Parts: sequence; C-alpha cells; structure tokens
Amino acid sequence: MSLAAPLAAAYAPARFAAIPRERLPALIQALPKAELHIHIEGSLEPELIFKLAQRNGVSLPYATVEALRAAYAFTDLQSFLDIYYAGASVLLQELDFFDMAWAYFERARADNVIHAELFFDPQTHTDRGVPFETVITGLHRACVQARAELGVDASLILCFLRHLSEDAAFATLEQALPWRDRFIGVGLDSSERGHPPSKFERVFARCRGLGLHVVAHAGEEGPPAYIEEALDLLKVERIDHGVRCVEDAALVQRLADSRMPLTVCPLSNVKLCVYDTMAAHSLPALLASGLCATINSDDPAYFGGYMNANWLATFEGLPALGAAEAYQLAANSFEASFVDAGQKAQWMDRLGAVFTDAAKG
Ligand code: ADE
Ligand code: ZN
Repeated sequence: MSLAAPLAAAYAPARFAAIPRERLPALIQALPKAELHIHIEGSLEPELIFKLAQRNGVSLPYATVEALRAAYAFTDLQSFLDIYYAGASVLLQELDFFDMAWAYFERARADNVIHAELFFDPQTHTDRGVPFETVITGLHRACVQARAELGVDASLILCFLRHLSEDAAFATLEQALPWRDRFIGVGLDSSERGHPPSKFERVFARCRGLGLHVVAHAGEEGPPAYIEEALDLLKVERIDHGVRCVEDAALVQRLADSRMPLTVCPLSNVKLCVYDTMAAHSLPALLASGLCATINSDDPAYFGGYMNANWLATFEGLPALGAAEAYQLAANSFEASFVDAGQKAQWMDRLGAVFTDAAKG
C-alpha cells in the first residue's frame, strides 16, 4: 500500500493553530472549499417541492410546507429515504432539474463553495417515466451556468441505487452512455444495510473501464466490511461517509496510509442517528489518525443546512477542532476532488491567503 503525503502537509497547517476559536465562524464563512458529497435531490427545499408540484399538477400527501417540514424527523437512513424519494416525485421537466440545481448553486456560492461534485439518482426519475435525457440536460445546464455566472466549478456523479439490482444499474449505465461527457463518475447510494458493494462489482468494473471516477457510500450504517469491499471489489477513489471505519483499527490505518478520502456529512450523521449528538462524532479522531476527511452536506434540505451550516455545527459541537483542523479539512476537500493538480494548487493558494490574513489578526 502506498504511503501518500497529504496535500496540506506542504503548507504546514499547524501554523494556524494559534488563530483563536472565536474567529472560527468568520473564517469558516470566508474560506474557499469544495463540496464532494451532495445529493442534488436532497437539496430540494419544501418550498420548491410545493412550487414544482403546482407547476406539474402533482398532488402531495402534505397540505402545507410546514406540514412537510414537520415530517422531517428521522430515526435511521430508511426513514429518510422514504420521504426523500417521495419529494423527488415532483421533478418531471428539464426546467425542474435546472431549478433544483440552480437553487443549490446559489447557496453554494453564498457559502464560498468554489467546487462541487453533485450526485444525482437517475433511477429515481427514469423509473417514473422521466427520460434520462431530461434529467441530465437540466442538471448539466445548471452546472454550465453556475461556472459562468457564479464562479462555482461543478460536475456530476451518477449514483446507482443499491436497493435495486445490478442489472438495473447496467441498464442505467447504457441509458447514460450517450451523455458520457456530462458526468465524471459513478457512485452507489440508497439503503446500505443488506446491499453490500459486492453486489455491484461487475458494473463498477465496466465503469472504470470507461474511464469514469468511482466512489461509493459505505460505512454510514453498514459495517466496516462494506468499506473494505468498496476498496477491494469496487476499487473506489473515495468513500462516502465511511465513519464506521473507527470500529476497525487496521482499516483506519489502511485509509490513512493510502490517503483514501472520506466524505463525511456531520449534520446528516446526527439527523439519521448514526451519532446521538455532534459531540459524539468521530471526526476529530479521524483527523487525528491522519485520514483525508472532508465536511459535506449530503441532503441539506432535509438535515438542517448547507455547507457552512455543517461546518459551523461541527466546530461548535466539537471543541477539539480549531483553526488548524479547519485548514486541514478545506485542504482535504481540494485534495480529494476530481480535478488536476494545477487546479488543486491554485485553490490551495487561495485557501492559504485567507488563513494567512486571519493569522495576522
Ligand atoms: N441518498 C441520499 N442521501 C443518502 C445517504 N445519506 N445515504 C445513502 N443514500 C442516500
Ligand atoms: Zn450521501
């Protein structure tokens, strides 16, 4: 196994440790960051769900925005997914997918997210009769416009739903191939327990053969063995969530040695009861073990906030984290992104400038 050096190491994050904690909220707002774990369907706010339902003549089982929002009390991943898939049923036209993604990009811009890799779930839509072309065209148009008008660099990652079969994933891949240039990779999401990565070994091999990046949700609710399967069988380049790795010391060491990124989603983990409280979250331990952990929002419309809300809640709930860790987390987000080394170096310069200013006081 290769012993990879953290991108941030060359920039000596420890020199920022003296920045006082009370300056963290302003620093978090100002620092440039990449978001690598956002399900675009999870950014669909109740207000937009109602607007699209009206536009498309879809009836909802909730009378008001408030009644829908009140239903967002989750006990586990499945209790969330049931509502999340129901919310996505209002998405029918190309413009709906554009509007959803555009609303996210405006939030991303406000949070100083300068690069975003967006998950989308085509099967959630194609299984309702919405053509793949409608989905990808609307999302792609929003990505192009976000780059031009908001300065947010964006790309798409197609996720296979793991509660469906591998044959269904292969069929989705076939539908997607005419638009191969509009997404950079594939992922694996939905109900984790009982649907191990091994179920998708062949379709991931095909995707790698096509030159696609590969990532997978693993170790959110599923056991550490699912993380190992994602590494060994799917040969992923990032693990989404992965927080249950802490139950296996050898696995933590392996992830740290290989600088395998974990796209951690702190508010999601608390809302879905992976942790009882933010104070119980393993993020400080992951960073202390040398893992390339990042902060992300997962499904911000459902879990209480977008990127900066996640950052702020994380630093507020975990006093062990200070400015050096904020620098490390932002640097990790660039290190873990699917862009070239020159682009990463440019973003690291921007990040360093913000921290150097903050260190001056
Ligand atoms: N789809 C949307 N959010 C998800 C999550 N947190 N885990 C698995 N699948 C998802
Ligand atoms: Zn997710």
